[in-house]
Amino acid sequence: MKTILTYGTYDLLHYGHVRLLKRAKERGDYLIVAISTDEFNAIKGKKAYYSYELRKEILEAIKYVDLVIPEKTWEQKIDDVKKYNVDEVVMGSDWAGNEKFEILRDYCQVVYLDRTEGISTTQIKEDLNLKEDDNELR
Ligand code: CTP
Repeated sequence: MKTILTYGTYDLLHYGHVRLLKRAKERGDYLIVAISTDEFNAIKGKKAYYSYELRKEILEAIKYVDLVIPEKTWEQKIDDVKKYNVDEVVMGSDWAGNEKFEILRDYCQVVYLDRTEGISTTQIKEDLNLKEDDNELR
């Protein structure tokens, strides 16, 4: 069995996310998605529209996703790979060559997939005029 792991916030789930998850799942048999907790987003200076629990609930309803786990720190990735016997970490091309993922090459495969053009959570928020600071976390 080939286990795939990917990381992200996955707020306001959109078709760019779905296509990334579909292609990630096609690379193996079991797909784990590690999503940033609200506390970790705060460390990164980001605020999601949906809380961690709601983002997790939505992702668990996606047929390509087998397991959702929390991403709480930058440093946990090696432990995640070992704990879940991960064969391959997959990320969108916006992360290509980033040291945070390149260090995983000692433990598993690391693959970057092309992003879908023209869509992002940031774009949706801009189009809907949603300002990060004026919404309460759902
Ligand atoms: N992704 C993608 N195509 C898009 C948007 C995202 O393939 N158009 C991928 C990212 O490369 C990442 C995963 O989806 O591997 C989760 O990305 P995330 O940062 O949560 O989504 P974005 O829409 O990029 O969010 P933001 O605008 O807040 O950066």
